[in-house]
Amino acid sequence: KKEGYMNKKLKAIILSLFMVLILASCSSNAQEKIIVRVGHNQSQKHPTHLGLLEFEKFVEDKLGDKYDVQVYPSELLGSQTDMVQLTQTGAIDICVASNAILETFDNVYEIFNLPYLFSSEKAYHSVMDDKEITGPIFSSTKEGGFVGVTWLDAGSRSFYTKDRKIEKPEDLKGLKIRVQQSPTNVKMMDMFGASASPMGFGEVYTALQSGIIDGAENNEMSLTENGHGEICKYYSYDMHQMVPDIVIANYEWLESLPKEDRKVFEEGFKVLSEKQRKEWKSSVENAKAKATEMGVEFIYPDQKAFSKVVEPLKEEVINKNKKLKPYYEKIQEYNKKYPAKEAK
Ligand code: GCU
Repeated sequence: KKEGYMNKKLKAIILSLFMVLILASCSSNAQEKIIVRVGHNQSQKHPTHLGLLEFEKFVEDKLGDKYDVQVYPSELLGSQTDMVQLTQTGAIDICVASNAILETFDNVYEIFNLPYLFSSEKAYHSVMDDKEITGPIFSSTKEGGFVGVTWLDAGSRSFYTKDRKIEKPEDLKGLKIRVQQSPTNVKMMDMFGASASPMGFGEVYTALQSGIIDGAENNEMSLTENGHGEICKYYSYDMHQMVPDIVIANYEWLESLPKEDRKVFEEGFKVLSEKQRKEWKSSVENAKAKATEMGVEFIYPDQKAFSKVVEPLKEEVINKNKKLKPYYEKIQEYNKKYPAKEAK
């Protein structure tokens, strides 16, 4: 009888040991995979999300037994500013940040926030693809804990409003317009005689709805993907800026990658940017068509009238921040090479 009891006890011990072993092997399997967290603030239909999914697939096809890439859209990991800070500390590994907010992390980023900086889309893309220009800028924040790894297209930014049509710069006078959290943007709005309301992207819809602001400025996708076109019925193509999005990564994490893995991630960043840019054009066209259905009127003002007003801002910023001059000069070469097409 006693033996029977001992036997049972032994069996139970063996069984529980076995369970522990199974559990341990499961969790060690899970632990073997390194989670790579990637955050952004766009919807799941946005070219940036589609690009990041392609990045995830590329990396996991090659290194899936080692890395688990997780893409978090729609500010799930916080606002863009939050995400940049999380990337700085390494709480997340990668995020997408508008160049606009990066100027407060290193002021060399001011360069791409200047209004009417590029003469054409082709000039803009060529500048952003020129590693001699972007290389030093992207590594300027190393000491701050992150670096730029590639750029993404965010089209051109124009004003859109609830009640007042913006047909000439004077129409902006006295309006409260949301801008990204960038001192250059605030100065730009001052010059237009409007008052700038800096806030995160995710707050804009409610601010428009409640009347805290009269309008905002962005590319066409914010009308549809973020619903701003439900409230703002006038979109005015003044095209005051082409502000790129920058994909940033925690510097220590990037440096800690084994050489071969790092190569895969670097190739993945290329895959991301190619896919994102491929999707961009059609996404903008679709957004325009959808916004028109929503009742948004597109207005085509004389852009020169707008650029004239903010021209002094360029000089002011470039004269004040000595780092910018060499970049500005290189950009002028591309502007000459790829001038604006016929007006409008
Ligand atoms: C664009 C840009 C985002 C940015 C947003 C904004 O959508 O792609 O990176 O956050 O504008 O205005 O905040």
